[in-house]
Amino acid sequence: MKTIPEYGRPYEDILKELDAFSADDPAYKDNKTWSLVYYKDEDYTHFLAESYEKYMSANGLNPTAFKSLKRFENDIVAFTAELLHGDENCAGCVTSCGTESCMLAVKTYRDWGKAVKGIRHPEMIVAETAHVAWFKGAEYFGVKVHTVPVDKDWKIDIRAVKRKINRNTVLLLGSAPEYPHGIIDDITALGQLGRKHNIPVHVDACVGGYLLPFMEQAGASLPPFDFRVDGVTSISADIHKYGFAAKGCSCILYKNLDLFKYQCFVHPDWPGGLFASPAFLGTRPGGAYAAAWAAMQANGRQGYIEMAKQTMANAERMKEGIRAVKELEIIGEPQCSLIAYRSKDPYQVNIFAVGDIMQEKGWHIDRLLHPDGLHAMITCSHTDVIDAYLQDLQEAVYAVRGKPCLAMQGEAATYSTVGHIPLKGIVRNTVLNTFAQSYEVSKGLIDIADSATLTGNAKADKLIQKLIMRDIKRPGFAKNLVSGVKTAGCVGLSLTATGVATAILRKKRNKR
Ligand SMILES: Cc1ncc(COP(=O)(O)O)c(C=O)c1O
Repeated sequence: MKTIPEYGRPYEDILKELDAFSADDPAYKDNKTWSLVYYKDEDYTHFLAESYEKYMSANGLNPTAFKSLKRFENDIVAFTAELLHGDENCAGCVTSCGTESCMLAVKTYRDWGKAVKGIRHPEMIVAETAHVAWFKGAEYFGVKVHTVPVDKDWKIDIRAVKRKINRNTVLLLGSAPEYPHGIIDDITALGQLGRKHNIPVHVDACVGGYLLPFMEQAGASLPPFDFRVDGVTSISADIHKYGFAAKGCSCILYKNLDLFKYQCFVHPDWPGGLFASPAFLGTRPGGAYAAAWAAMQANGRQGYIEMAKQTMANAERMKEGIRAVKELEIIGEPQCSLIAYRSKDPYQVNIFAVGDIMQEKGWHIDRLLHPDGLHAMITCSHTDVIDAYLQDLQEAVYAVRGKPCLAMQGEAATYSTVGHIPLKGIVRNTVLNTFAQSYEVSKGLIDIADSATLTGNAKADKLIQKLIMRDIKRPGFAKNLVSGVKTAGCVGLSLTATGVATAILRKKRNKR
């Protein structure tokens, strides 16, 4: 087992080693990443780092201790409220990330439902495209999720939402935009439903909160997505995304203090002292607040508007370029900077295999499921790499065309498996095992391509692979098998796979 060094080492050596660690990381400074990072340039990064450093040791745990941090927080909340058309009654706080903001909303509305409506078994309604943070929040806080489909425009299906509303509903969620395809849900329709049934409506603008307002101010016409919509009760917006702050800064805002109070935690008689906290974290990193505040001062409204214009110009070029590849299509009609694209004929061009080749060419791209696709979160910094990206994409499609078996190699195999195998329980267990094991003290990095071996049994894996290939050829085939399609031979095949896999899992469980 590794151990902490016995004696301290010179700073210089350690700093060199830190640099060496990043050798295999995505090349974000060359703008090769299409998610995860919002990078402007070295000057700006050093400025943020300096701002961060000034408050690195300051702790926002007790808001009365570091008055500086409370001032930053007040400013960030007020600036964000103004951007999202909140009024003086708005209340909110800074959080560590979008996930924290989303999960806090789940907790808030669970407690609101109990206090105001006496709801003991809370339920929430989200689109299948809602960020995974909402599912995580629901699991952590014991709120039942109704996942509704999207409509033909890839927006939350309002009719399906209506059908799921009942007396236990404590939250309706819309995204502006959703992460997978960059589509803005119909927030107005959700607001109307919220008003009609007295149900809170949260807008997840984690990704759009610091982009959409500036797009509008630059003249773009967008559907209403913020507090201008009657019925919207809260919004989350991440400053560490399109606000170009240092990592660790999001903001959650409620329409009024009455709602925000359900988010706060107070424990007045703790032996450690009177305790009150607005969010999840105990110690709250002062550096992140300072850097976010500094980012807003450095960019200013006009700076963000210029960045939004450049982002939109880049997104348009990307969309045009992808549309020019005849084998590909954009999913839906994304209105801002996130786009998803897929293969028109998955058997001819496996999109995950295209992703693998793009990765070999040095691009860091996210994969999407249901439908299979590739993703790009475009920023103002991508201007100079878009032509190279599109050229590589065309080459990748050309290399993959007519080779469906590539779906079973590399990372493509993992994604094809996860996306197409109907045995979701097995997939979940396999991913859970691989993931959890990577946190064992003796383990190292996660290799996602490893998860392609589902059951660890060659025979069962082969059967599963067969199912996947058929599903790619005829989408939905594998799913139909398990839901009881009447073809006797096919049912036999699926049952064998299920049987073998279940037996293996049982054996593994017994061994433990
Ligand atoms: C719509 C949406 N909500 C929430 C999140 C979660 O944000 P974070 O990764 O900062 O936790 C994201 C992240 O991309 C997102 O796109």
